[in-house]
Amino acid sequence: MNIEVLKNEIYKLKEEKNALIVAHNYQIDEVQEIADFVGDSFYLSKVCAERPEKVIVFCGVHFMAESAKILSPNKKVLLPEIDAGCPLADMVTAEDVENLKKKYPDYSIVCYINSPASVKAKSDVICTSSNAVKIVREFPNDKIIFLPDKNLGSFVKKQVPEKDIILWEGFCITHYKIKKEDVEKAKSLHPNALVLVHPECRPEVVELADFVGSTKQIIDFATASKEKEFIIGTEMGVLYSLKKLNPDKKFYILHPGMICPNMKKNTLQSVRDALLYERYQIEVEEEIMEGAKKALSKMLEIG
Ligand code: 13P
Repeated sequence: MNIEVLKNEIYKLKEEKNALIVAHNYQIDEVQEIADFVGDSFYLSKVCAERPEKVIVFCGVHFMAESAKILSPNKKVLLPEIDAGCPLADMVTAEDVENLKKKYPDYSIVCYINSPASVKAKSDVICTSSNAVKIVREFPNDKIIFLPDKNLGSFVKKQVPEKDIILWEGFCITHYKIKKEDVEKAKSLHPNALVLVHPECRPEVVELADFVGSTKQIIDFATASKEKEFIIGTEMGVLYSLKKLNPDKKFYILHPGMICPNMKKNTLQSVRDALLYERYQIEVEEEIMEGAKKALSKMLEIG
């Protein structure tokens, strides 16, 4: 189907069903274009919880739509592509958390939102890349197990040296591609550019950055900056907002492979089908709903 026809159908169905469309910063340009709200994981989880619409089309990956459902159990949350997952989220299981709790009974579990609901349910509080430092710093326990992302965890550890933080071994397969040499090369090619990276990057990459933040924080930083050139260390999808908000600035992606294959699964066609057939509905098992909601709500309270 032609793009304009698809877009018009999406707008029509959205009106008819009184639905909200949200898109993560990593979505393809056309999907970001038709969304009511575009942002990072934290911003979108707040938007979904606060908005009155009863149908939400979440253009992102599974754990994001699942988090929206946990925070708003009475809403119908739809993920356009049901197999849009997150390899990082799958690097820890509820059983792993159980074992950690037995081994370290006086530690609290701070869990990155990139995780399954079953893991969230066994955690004390959730965080996103935009509030991880604040959550760990303000959580009333000095002994923390941070999971599943070891890179975000080691960034937090550096910012909060007063706490004893144990890391899990998970990582994002896309951000992991960026090596220290890529930053050095990009800096030599663009000596006037600032380096802005996501905290899911390796510690030696984060070390070389001028700014470290979530996708939304990177976009906000570049937009507010007086500088004109930026080297970007996160998934390419952020270029959509960066270029739209800053037509006079230049952006260089740190690595050509900065594409999250799961985020790119959602298309205009699948968004239209999601609205038309009300699919794929995200459900969360009752036994894990309560614990996961408690941990996510605690994040909204602190962060
Ligand atoms: P944000 O917190 O910027 O949404 O990042 C989420 C993510 O999965 C990055 O890979």
